[in-house]
Amino acid sequence: MQRFLITEAAKHIGEKVKVCGWVNAKRAHGKILFIDLRDISGIIQVVFVPSNKEIYNLAQELKPEWVVEINGQIVKRPTQMVNDKIETGQVELSVDSLKILSQSETLPFSIDDVGYEIGEDIRMKYRYLDLRRERLKNNLITRHKIIKFVRDFLDKEGFIEIETPILTKSTPEGARDYIVPSRQHPGKFYALPQSPQQYKQLLMVAGLEKYFQVAKCLRDEDPRGDRQPEFTQLDMEMSFVQQEDVMDLTERLLILMIKNLFPEKKIQEIPFPRISYEEAMKKYKTDRPDLRKDKNDKNLLAFCWVIDFPFFKTGSDELGYPDGKWKPTHNPFSAPKPEFMEDLLNQKNIGKILTTQYDVVMNGFEIGGGSIRNHKREALEAVFEIIGYKKEFIEEKFGHMLNAFSFGAPPHGGIAWGLDRVVSLLLNEPNIREVIAFPKTGDGRDFMMSAPSEIDKNQLNELHIKISEQNQNKDKKKSQKTHKLKVVKKEKSKKSKK
Ligand code: AMO
Repeated sequence: MQRFLITEAAKHIGEKVKVCGWVNAKRAHGKILFIDLRDISGIIQVVFVPSNKEIYNLAQELKPEWVVEINGQIVKRPTQMVNDKIETGQVELSVDSLKILSQSETLPFSIDDVGYEIGEDIRMKYRYLDLRRERLKNNLITRHKIIKFVRDFLDKEGFIEIETPILTKSTPEGARDYIVPSRQHPGKFYALPQSPQQYKQLLMVAGLEKYFQVAKCLRDEDPRGDRQPEFTQLDMEMSFVQQEDVMDLTERLLILMIKNLFPEKKIQEIPFPRISYEEAMKKYKTDRPDLRKDKNDKNLLAFCWVIDFPFFKTGSDELGYPDGKWKPTHNPFSAPKPEFMEDLLNQKNIGKILTTQYDVVMNGFEIGGGSIRNHKREALEAVFEIIGYKKEFIEEKFGHMLNAFSFGAPPHGGIAWGLDRVVSLLLNEPNIREVIAFPKTGDGRDFMMSAPSEIDKNQLNELHIKISEQNQNKDKKKSQKTHKLKVVKKEKSKKSKK
């Protein structure tokens, strides 16, 4: 017999169906035994009666989270037994046969609540169990729907989804790179992309005109509520566009997506208000102001654009830039606003040059940013010179971009959304890890896979890498220390619970 999903099976009243899933709960009412059976679609009540002795006895053995296959008949529940709280609450499954497909140990934590209170270490170690909880399952399904909506929308608008490499050379984005040693080229390294910035621009030179990608980005920075070392961008780039076109597309997509997928949400102001960086700093003391008129309303969304950022700033501690005087506030590949192009080319009034950068902010979180780019070689060179890069360095690091721009580069620009942030904010989740299937912990680890981990000597040799003993010992001591700390903490929390 073909398997039905539970919510589908429940519609076939009076018919025989086969369902599979997990034992969500088991209870007895007098002699009658009930289990709640759970699959991806929902939960159904299954009834075992003593008259069917063999099956009844087998059902007695069932424990939470065992996996079973059940054949039976969908029957209407007596009126007084109807449960309005669940989708299938009008019916129950009367069992003809029961097969145990797999057993389960007792879970290390409960999964029938929201789970915020459970320690991060244990949730992440057993993430595959954590994901069984309704809230996280639904988060992943909503994330899928958002991505699908975006894909369909962009496809209709003529965008092409193109994958770009993960093993690459770094783009300066103000964060530390993750580095991958090369086996074939001793002493050389790849960098994992902080974003596909250079590739997407090169795709514009290639004439692809409208690119997008649901792109993994990797930045070696400490995780926070809205930040992970490995995160996902909805990355876009377009040719022959101006600031207005990219902003318009972003705004249309966001509004349509919210109207379709989150009809309960209200967007405070359309079109999204625009604020200059200067005004934002003066009025709100931040470049990502939370403009909500009612901050208690969980369905209110206040968007705004922040524009007119200064191109360069002084004295920042951003990584990836030399100790020169000037660093870009955002993307070194951005173009200045047209009225500042001459100053850029002449490297004059540098502190006053404004960039075409636009950031989109939702309820006080920066959910995306982009710009129109310099598509002329001399303008990009001027940026690098202002930053203080030496000629040879520019050639070595960015020669491919400058070369590309000497073969007919179209004017182009784009934007990238922080997809994890968009999803978590729309779901009112306090942390982006709640919408990522397998996120890293606060200290950048994957407890489930035990990553990062040591690799064996042969692998190290192949990669031409030697770990200095000093570091090894330091690392060992550190892990012993944290282990001790954890044991102490656990004991303390046990005591406090008592
Ligand atoms: P930017 O660095 O501003 O721009 O990144 C774009 C958006 O990505 C999100 N974001 C993050 N989300 C989670 N964890 C992180 N560590 C993290 N870092 C950034 C933010 C941010 O607005 N290449 C340019 C885009 C462009 O110019 O087209 C870029 O990467 O929501």
